[in-house]
Amino acid sequence: MIEKILNERDKWFEWKNIKPIKEAVDNLEVKEATYTINDTISIKTPTPTKKITQIAKMLKPWRKGPFKINELFIDSEWKSYIKWNSIKPHLNLKDKEILDVGGNNGYYAFRMLEMEPKSIEIWDPSPLFNLQFEFINKFIKSDIKYKLLGVEHIPMSRKKWDIIFCMGVLYHRRDPIEMLKWLKEGLRKEGVVILDTLILEGNEEIALSPLRYAKMKNVYFIPTLKTLKNWIKRAGFKKIEFIGKRYTTTNEQRKTEWIDGESLENFLNKTQTKTIEGYEPPLRCYLKLFS
Ligand SMILES: C[S@@+](CC[C@H](N)C(=O)[O-])C[C@H]1O[C@@H](n2cnc3c(N)ncnc32)[C@H](O)[C@@H]1O
Repeated sequence: MIEKILNERDKWFEWKNIKPIKEAVDNLEVKEATYTINDTISIKTPTPTKKITQIAKMLKPWRKGPFKINELFIDSEWKSYIKWNSIKPHLNLKDKEILDVGGNNGYYAFRMLEMEPKSIEIWDPSPLFNLQFEFINKFIKSDIKYKLLGVEHIPMSRKKWDIIFCMGVLYHRRDPIEMLKWLKEGLRKEGVVILDTLILEGNEEIALSPLRYAKMKNVYFIPTLKTLKNWIKRAGFKKIEFIGKRYTTTNEQRKTEWIDGESLENFLNKTQTKTIEGYEPPLRCYLKLFS
C-alpha cells in the first residue's frame, strides 16, 4: 500500500516547477566534501561555489537551516538551531530507529546524526523540501532516508519506530486527536514521541479555532496546554513530560534573501504583542509522549 503511494508520488518530481530543480540536483557532481554539523551545518568542497549557489537559489524558499557551503551562507527563514538546542538536552538517540515526520529539509535529522541513532527516516510530502535534503545530502552522504509521505500514512506502515519527532505539524491537522493516535500507532513498545506544537496561555480546557492565524489559513486548532494534554491522554499515551515552551521571536523567524515574501514581522501587529488578526502571538511547547 505504502509502496504504491510512494511510486505514485515519485511522479511529483515530473511537475513542471519541480522537474528542472530535480535535474539540477541530480546532475550536481560532488566528489569530495567535508562537513561540521553545528548550529550552522557547514560544508567544504572543491565543487565550484558558483554552481552550488545556482542550484541553492533554484531550491528557494529555504525555511529551515542555516547551511553553509564554502562561502555560500544559506540563511534560512528560521534559525532552526534555537528549537533544536531547546530539545537536544532531553534526547538520547543512540542506537534508536527514528522517524521525523514533517521533517522538512532534514536540518534536524542532520543534527541527530551526532547522537548515533541506528537509522533515521524523514517523512514529508513536499518534493521541494525533499530536493533540498538531497542537495545537502550530496555533500554529507548520510544514510538518512526521505519519503514523500505524511503523518496520515503512519497507520499503513509495517515499520514501527523507537522515537518519532513530530514538530510543527499538529496545528495543521483538522483532527488533532486522530493524528496523535497515528503517532502512537507508529511507536514500538516503550517508544517516545517528541512533539512541538503551538499552544495558548491559560489554564482553561479550551482551544482556539481560527479561520486564519498569523496569515496561515491552514491552522485549525491551538489548544491550551491543559487541552493538549487531554488530547494526548485521549490518544492513549501513558505519560507526558513537559520539556518547555517559548514564544517565537523575530530573531528566530525572519525575512531573509532565501525566502520570497513575508515572515513573522508581517504576521504580527506593530508592537508584536498580537498576531495581525488580534490573537495571542505564536507560543510553542515541546513535550515528550510515552506510549
Ligand atoms: C511548520 S513546518 C515544520 C517543519 C519542522 N518539523 C520544524 O519543526 O521546523 C511543517 C512541515 O510539515 C510538512 N507537511 C505537510 N503536510 C504534512 C503531512 N500530511 N504530514 C507530515 N508533514 C506534513 C510540510 O511540508 C512542512 O515541512
